[in-house]
Amino acid sequence: MAKKNRKPVKITETILRDAHQSLIATRMTTEQMLPIIDKMDKVGYHAVECWGGATFDASLRFLKEDPWDRLRKLRAGFKNTKLQMLFRGQNILGYRPYADDVVEYFVQKSIANGIDVIRIFDCLNDLRNLQTAVTATNKEKGHAQVALSYTLGDAYTLQYWTKMAKNIEEMGANSICIKDMAGLLTPYKAEELVKSLKAATSLPIELHTHYTSGVASMTYMKAVEAGCDIIDTAMSPFALGTSQPATEVMAEAFRGTELDPGFDQMLLKEIADYFRPMREEALKSGLLNPKVLGVDIQTLLYQVPGGMLSNMVSQLKEQNAEDKYMEVLEEIPRVRKDLGEPPLVTPSSQIVGTQAVFNVLMGERYKVATKETKDVLLGKYGQTVKPFNPEIVDKVLGADKKNAITCRYADLLEPELHKIEAEMKQYKQQDEDVLSYALFPQVATEFFKYREAQQTKVDAAVADTKNGAYPV
Ligand code: CO
Repeated sequence: MAKKNRKPVKITETILRDAHQSLIATRMTTEQMLPIIDKMDKVGYHAVECWGGATFDASLRFLKEDPWDRLRKLRAGFKNTKLQMLFRGQNILGYRPYADDVVEYFVQKSIANGIDVIRIFDCLNDLRNLQTAVTATNKEKGHAQVALSYTLGDAYTLQYWTKMAKNIEEMGANSICIKDMAGLLTPYKAEELVKSLKAATSLPIELHTHYTSGVASMTYMKAVEAGCDIIDTAMSPFALGTSQPATEVMAEAFRGTELDPGFDQMLLKEIADYFRPMREEALKSGLLNPKVLGVDIQTLLYQVPGGMLSNMVSQLKEQNAEDKYMEVLEEIPRVRKDLGEPPLVTPSSQIVGTQAVFNVLMGERYKVATKETKDVLLGKYGQTVKPFNPEIVDKVLGADKKNAITCRYADLLEPELHKIEAEMKQYKQQDEDVLSYALFPQVATEFFKYREAQQTKVDAAVADTKNGAYPV
C-alpha cells in the first residue's frame, strides 16, 4: 500500500508523441494538435511529451511539415506545461551515431525552441552514448532525464538495472525513466524494480510502458504504490493497444487517495471529445488498424515491440512473403542473441528486425548482412551487455574483424556540422535546417525543395492578386 505522506502521482501526457506514433504511424499533424492545446494546458500535467522520437522524421517525410515550426507553435500554446521530447542519445533522432558537435547543437536548438525535458536513451544501454546529450542539456538549463531501455534476458537482473540507475545519477541526470517500449514489465516486477531504484538513488522515477501485452495499468498501479513518481499516459481515444494506458482511467484510479493527481474529469472529457473523431477517421481510413488495439500476448513470448511488428509485416508484404511471418518472428530472438542481446528499441529494433527478415528470405542466415548489422558487430553502436556470437562475427565481418572498436565510437568522429552546413547551404532558411539535414539528408532536401515551391506559389499568388487576377 501507499506509504504515508506520499505526494500525488504526476502524469505525463503522450498523445502528441508516443500515442499517435504507436497507433497511427506518427501521422497527427500540427494543425490537428493546435486547437486543443489551450485546454490541455489547464489539466495540470507534469509534462506533455510532444516532440522527438519518430515525429521529426515523420513530419519531414510524410506530412511535409517543418518539425521546428511545430515545436515553436506548441511552445506558444502551452504556457503552463513543460514540454518533453524523446532523444536517442548519440543517434539523436536518427538511425546512426553522430559526432558530438551535432548532438550538442541539437540539444541547444531543442531547448531554445521550447523543450523543457529531454528524455535520453541508448538502444544498447551503453551510458557512454548518453553523456554528451546529458551534459549539453545541463548546460542549456534543461531537465535531463535518462532512460533505462527495459528488456528481458539473462543479463538484465535487478542488480544490472540498479547499478545502471546509480551510474545515471552520477552522470548528472535530473530524473530516471524506466522505458518499457514493448510492454514487458509485469506488475510485481515493476514493484520490485521501482523499490530497488528508489533505494539506490534520490532521483525522481518515471515509468513509461505500453499496453501491448495488456498488463500496463496494473503495472502502473503497483509501481506508483512502490514509490514511482511519474507515469506516462495517453488520452483515451489514442490509448491502449500498442499505446499507453488511458489518462482518464489512471487519474480516476487514484481518486480520493493521497496519490490523486486531482485532474478535472470534465476537462479531460472535453479533450477526449476533441480527439475521438480523429480516431474514428483513422479507423475508417485504415491508418488505425484494429489489430494493434487488442492484447497481443506474442509480445511476452517474443519480446518484440509493437512498432517493430508492423514494420516487419510491411517489409514482408513488399517481398510478397507474408507467409514467412512466424519464421521471422522466431528468428528475431536468435538474431538478438547473436548481436549481444540488446534491448529492442530504435534503432536496434530495426537492425535486428531487418536482419531477421533477410536471414529468413535468403534461406541462409547472414548470407546477406546489412550495413547496420556490420556496424553493430564493429562496435560502432556501443557495447552490448553480452558478447557477440563469434561464428557470426567471422561470417559477417571476415577480415574486417580487425577494425572492430571498443572505445566510444563518437570519440573517433571529426566534428561534422561545418561539412554538413556547406552541403546544404543553398536550402538554409533558419539555423535549425542544418540539423534537419544532418539527420535526414535526403528527406530534408526533398522537404526544403517542397517548401521553396510552396513559397514560390504564394509569392505568385500575391503578385497575381496585385495584378488584379483575384478579387481582393
Ligand atoms: Co514508448
